[in-house]
Amino acid sequence: MPSSSNIGRRTLMRGLGAAGAGLVLPVAAGAQPVAMITRAVPSSGEALPVVGLGSWITFNVGNDRAARDGCADVMRAFFSGGGRLIDSSPMYASSQDVIGYGLAKLGKPAALFAADKVWISRGARGRDQIEQSRRHWDVARFDLMQVHNLLAWEEHLPMLFSMKAAGQLRYVGITTSEGRRHDEIEQIMRRHPIDFVQVTYNVVDREIESRILPLARDRGIGVIVNRPFREGALIKKVMRHPLPAWAQEIDCTSWAQVILKFIASHPAVTCVIPATTSVAHVRENMQAAYSRLPDEALRRRMIAHIEAL
Ligand SMILES: NC(=O)c1ccc[n+]([C@@H]2O[C@H](COP(=O)([O-])OP(=O)(O)OC[C@H]3O[C@@H](n4cnc5c(N)ncnc54)[C@H](OP(=O)(O)O)[C@@H]3O)[C@@H](O)[C@H]2O)c1
Repeated sequence: MPSSSNIGRRTLMRGLGAAGAGLVLPVAAGAQPVAMITRAVPSSGEALPVVGLGSWITFNVGNDRAARDGCADVMRAFFSGGGRLIDSSPMYASSQDVIGYGLAKLGKPAALFAADKVWISRGARGRDQIEQSRRHWDVARFDLMQVHNLLAWEEHLPMLFSMKAAGQLRYVGITTSEGRRHDEIEQIMRRHPIDFVQVTYNVVDREIESRILPLARDRGIGVIVNRPFREGALIKKVMRHPLPAWAQEIDCTSWAQVILKFIASHPAVTCVIPATTSVAHVRENMQAAYSRLPDEALRRRMIAHIEAL
């Protein structure tokens, strides 16, 4: 298992230096305001908050009105905390429609960075699927369109590049998760001018540190991190243990923030997209986009501590 010690301290600090100051966290009267951590999209320089929002399972609530309103509340708290990137897919059933419901209810927040996916085996049907997704979200166009799990990527990528050239979307990406098809992901990153790659990364799943993250930096490709909590299993496991004293060194008051700040502190990471059904959790997760991040020495302590739990 590669370790984060592969990242030199200078590299880490350079990466963190690229973090921009965007929004300012509202703080108690008299306290110093804290700037939000943003990362530049490598292909454009656009600043993105380092924490986004996923929607798989959590937003797939069908037509249940109360549950839809609950998701809209999560989105409201997300935008209030300075969030921008929301990630979805046609694979996530009603999630896209629920996002559209939330966006309408919130008066179409201008900050939205809409990231969706094309997920259909017949390339010729890709455009229609994207148009259907666009109607669910009711946005003018997607900011980012990703090929979900590399499905029919050879057919979808040229179509996405031509949509980008025509101004019908802004960025093109590919996704995978849980370490699947990383060799193929690498080949695509080397050969095609994609803007983003979406992969799994967290303190215990660090396979991408050895090749994919360095390659993303070399090629100027943004990295979106999925499954930061291992779909909840990782956070449930660590929450059975007390928060270590070193969490204070990076201003973390919860395990969720510790896990998210580990991910956000890698200089190649652009945005991590935890999913939640809970307003309290989304607020807690957005706090990870503020204040101090771990340096390399603390990252190593975090790995050792969590692997030993
Ligand atoms: N191949 C792909 O393209 C791919 C694959 C997987 C995922 N994704 C994307 O990545 C997103 C994130 O991954 P994921 O949904 O698998 O799982 P995840 O974000 O790793 O975990 C979600 C779980 O964590 C819990 N959680 C969230 N915040 C918490 C907090 N502060 N404290 C305690 N528990 C918390 C949530 O429960 P509560 O509801 O109780 O908060 C939920 O059950 C997806 O939603 C999707 O958008 C993409």
